[in-house]
Amino acid sequence: MTIQAVVSGLGTYAPSKVLTNHDLERIVDTNDEWILTRTGIRERHIAAPEETTTDMALRASKLALAEAELKADQLDFIIVATNTPDTLFPSTAARLQARLSSSPIPGFDLQAGCTGLIYALAMGSTLIQNGTYRRILLVGADKLSSITDYQDRTTAVLFGDAAGAMVLEAKTDTDKGVLASYLKADGRGGDLLSLPAGGSRLPASEETVRDRQHFLKMNGNETFRFAVKAMPEAVEEGLRAAGLTVDAMDLLVPHQANLRIIDAAVRRFNLDPDRVVVNIDRYGNTSVATIPLALDDARREGRLKDGNIVVLVAFGAGLTWGSNVIRWGH
Ligand code: COA
Repeated sequence: MTIQAVVSGLGTYAPSKVLTNHDLERIVDTNDEWILTRTGIRERHIAAPEETTTDMALRASKLALAEAELKADQLDFIIVATNTPDTLFPSTAARLQARLSSSPIPGFDLQAGCTGLIYALAMGSTLIQNGTYRRILLVGADKLSSITDYQDRTTAVLFGDAAGAMVLEAKTDTDKGVLASYLKADGRGGDLLSLPAGGSRLPASEETVRDRQHFLKMNGNETFRFAVKAMPEAVEEGLRAAGLTVDAMDLLVPHQANLRIIDAAVRRFNLDPDRVVVNIDRYGNTSVATIPLALDDARREGRLKDGNIVVLVAFGAGLTWGSNVIRWGH
């Protein structure tokens, strides 16, 4: 009897404050036209100063649990993908567990750049398929505004804050669920996208603060070049692992980092726009939350149907890249 890992609940949250391109024109030397044509972004959501990654994770998780018709104390495990944990320790997963329920269940944070949710889904589905756990909460939550340098126009325009959560459950009487995943990391490209200080390599000091080393640094052009190769590779290899080809894919849900990166994948596979989810215009790059936000939007628009072959694909710091192939529904 094969155990499938199905997505039984999906929830998302974006803070209410919206930062438009026009707002950014007043903060850095940029303009709406540049941002829109180079990235596809019009606006992004920004958390309140006191609002934490865990706060956002909690809101998304409650919605996902409600849809799955589960109480938090019925969960077996929590995985939080994040690059901006509230603190280096304790983990965001432990903080979330305490906010959700008093039941002590295992959980940990997973850090794989913007590919974090893809990694979490791969780990979670494996733990379910091998019979270890039956109900897992997966969360992708990032407060990128906390590490964005609003004096650096090359990065300040790109990022937003949000969270997404999925409940994964074991089912035996279905052909739906996660069919395959493909994961890669290559640390040789680590310097292309990094947060230099605040870890054990460069602990916080007056110098690191003065030199703005606690903000994200990125080589945009090289990251772009990497992304346009990594995304199609991950789509093809994920489908291959599932025994499928691009023709079988009903919906592509790509990481939303730059519309031109998504367009390159669309052209490469000659995809009809109906088969690709794009919502970068309203959220910018929310890292590990882009994919749940895109799935939620697709569902609201009636584009995500039971039985659809859905491919989630992302790339990010590490460098990391990967995909999950899901037969949607539960
Ligand atoms: N507003 C106005 N001008 C800007 C600007 C801004 N916000 N940011 C950069 N520029 C300028 C540059 O200074 C440069 O000026 P110059 O020609 O006078 O030197 C010009 O625009 C072109 O810069 P360039 O970096 O070549 O632009 P680009 O088309 O490559 O776009 C990115 C830059 C960052 C949008 C793009 O490289 C990108 O999206 N990279 C991938 C990033 C990514 O995916 N990161 C997340 C990984 S998870």
